[in-house]
Amino acid sequence: MKITEQLKQPIASEMELFEEKFSASMHSKVALLNRITYYIVNRKGKQMRPMFVFLTAKLLGQNTVNERSYRAASVIELIHTATLVHDDVVDESYERRGFFSINALWKNKIAVLVGDYLLSKGLLLCIDHKDFDLLEIISVAVREMSQGELLQIEKTRHLDIDEPVYKEIIRQKTATLIASCCALGAASVHATESTVEQMRKFGEYIGMAFQIKDDLFDYSESKIGKPTGIDIREKKMTLPLIHVLNSVSDREKKWLLQSIRHHNKDKKRVKAVIALVKERGGLTYAQKQMHAYKDMALEQLHVFPKNEFRDALEAMVRYVIERKK
Ligand code: IPE
Ligand code: IPE
Ligand code: MG
Ligand code: MG
Repeated sequence: MKITEQLKQPIASEMELFEEKFSASMHSKVALLNRITYYIVNRKGKQMRPMFVFLTAKLLGQNTVNERSYRAASVIELIHTATLVHDDVVDESYERRGFFSINALWKNKIAVLVGDYLLSKGLLLCIDHKDFDLLEIISVAVREMSQGELLQIEKTRHLDIDEPVYKEIIRQKTATLIASCCALGAASVHATESTVEQMRKFGEYIGMAFQIKDDLFDYSESKIGKPTGIDIREKKMTLPLIHVLNSVSDREKKWLLQSIRHHNKDKKRVKAVIALVKERGGLTYAQKQMHAYKDMALEQLHVFPKNEFRDALEAMVRYVIERKK
């Protein structure tokens, strides 16, 4: 059995019903839109975010979820999908989930509009059912994600990104959405405010580890269903490089910055940069940071009684840092 299927076992029936509801939630009267959303639904990702919603809901809701939990899961996946469609426009990336991205097939104009459509469908799902507490959690995440992407662009232009800024970017662009999954799961079963906050924190730490892992993938040559080795070309500085920049001599730092600023499209030079980052322990450092966030996430779970859902959440945390794509 695939590892993701194994992780889904404690919530297998919920995930099955979720897929139906998620697919239905995208329906439109416009044929072109339906063709595109059909394409999206048939190339599903790991679905980690809805899994976090259901596992959290079941941990706190005496083993049961409710209609609000399903809506929370759909909203999150709709918004996640919308941001990926937009992100591939922003990053000019033509591959997603092992297939062509929406912008690769239908061009930017259509991808931008499809992303907006999915976002609005997500928000309306909450509004139509008056889930205003859930809507607040999700809207904060949407705001943070846009800010994170823009902060990243701003820093890419000036190459003045240090470790605190890097962490702020990944907290905003990735961790807040995973934090919302866990907060929504808790809120959907009417957990107390402090429990919702505790689960939000749990998700935020996972999200930090998740994005560090994603940035490490860019330094690998494995097939992960989206391009690798493109961050430096895009002048995107991530933790391995940032760490090395801070620990090498002034002469090497100058060479690194020159490479990124003026030779970022030179394949040989980019290879040399990657080699230096590896040689100076950039990957090892990022892995250490990733593990630190994983440990902080696991610690948040200690106050809850040990049961199959806590075990499953712990397994999800380990999966985030061990996954192969
Ligand atoms: C990709 O997220 C976007 C990032 C935050 C790095 P996932 O890796 O969860 O994407 P899918 O849904 O499985 O494709
Ligand atoms: C993913 O960001 C999109 C958001 C988190 C909003 P990246 O550009 O870093 O991730 P991938 O590698 O394209 O999935
Ligand atoms: Mg991208
Ligand atoms: Mg991006």
